Amino acid sequence: MYSLFRPLLFSLNPETAHSVSMASLEMASKLRITNALYPAVNNPVDLMGLTFPNRVGLSAGLDKNGDHIDALGSLGFGFIEVGTVTPRPQPGNPAPRIFRLPAANAIINRMGFNNYGVDHLVQNAKSRKFPGVLGINVGKNFDTPLENAAEDYIACIRAAYDHADYLTVNISSPNTPGLRDLQRGDDLAQLAQSLVTEVRKLDQQNNRQVPLTVKIAPDLERDEILTMADTLVAAGVDGVIATNTTLDKSAVVGMKHGQEQGGLSGTPVRDQSTLVIRTLSEHLQGAMPIIGVGGIETAEHAVEKIQAGADLVQVYTGFIYRGPAMISEIAKALPK
Ligand SMILES: Cc1cc2nc3c(=O)[nH]c(=O)nc-3n(C[C@H](O)[C@H](O)[C@H](O)COP(=O)(O)O)c2cc1C
Repeated sequence: MYSLFRPLLFSLNPETAHSVSMASLEMASKLRITNALYPAVNNPVDLMGLTFPNRVGLSAGLDKNGDHIDALGSLGFGFIEVGTVTPRPQPGNPAPRIFRLPAANAIINRMGFNNYGVDHLVQNAKSRKFPGVLGINVGKNFDTPLENAAEDYIACIRAAYDHADYLTVNISSPNTPGLRDLQRGDDLAQLAQSLVTEVRKLDQQNNRQVPLTVKIAPDLERDEILTMADTLVAAGVDGVIATNTTLDKSAVVGMKHGQEQGGLSGTPVRDQSTLVIRTLSEHLQGAMPIIGVGGIETAEHAVEKIQAGADLVQVYTGFIYRGPAMISEIAKALPK
């Protein structure tokens, strides 16, 4: 089905194609077509105190405002991560800011956290009917100085807490200047500790337990990954999402759009992301669950991530190239 639509969608610029896809998806899900075509695979897994209907999730960035949770949920995802959302609305970078590289099954984006602000997303999350797990991914506004980043994350966490099944702290987008510096040293320890403290305070007040995960970059040295893992465990973070997009464009040199600024996703980030997962897993020895993301397009790619140590997987670019059929294909292939 999707293979019929793809040439039309790919003839449009990526942001228009996104709007057209989401409008069509909304219609198809309201008519219950997607539910019938893509029934969710029931292969439940308990992790971080949550029951995930299956191990396949939608990665952050596709539904930044949570405008399409139920429609996307009707495609059979076990979990959906919305955002990245910031405290205040912001327009993101000027267009063009997203580029397809079909020869590499890849995308380069420099969206820059375009979003309508956390309150808009929370309104959507409030009314969701999606029965799977909902993650809300939070970030900082581009004009908030790095030293005040924790305040932005805390503002988002407070606003989103009631309607999130889990929360993700995004410190790995390459498109917000300086953000990735938060992954290192004392900055990370302080940030992780203050955010965990905040969530545990909300947990007590609300008699719930909302897991907090941290999303990391693929562009880290082995030592940095190990230090980061220790810091996150020490702070009491509940899970790690590996990985975001890469700044390494060596795989797409000479291709059309290959030198665009931004983060590269899809096939070119697959092996690096798997390496980060394996490094984390060997070091963590089960101390914290890992959500594996980066270049997954087939069941085989997802199995690779699980074998490297991931407990769950997420997809983004592969989903753009392959369409919804990949979701159940992957969910069926992953272990119970
Ligand atoms: C257009 C685009 C926008 C993205 N926006 C976000 C975002 O807002 N927050 C985030 O944590 N990750 C974002 N990502 C990263 C993805 O969630 C994912 O981590 C990364 O693309 C690697 O997975 P993939 O190869 O399956 O795409 C974005 C990716 C793309 C392609």
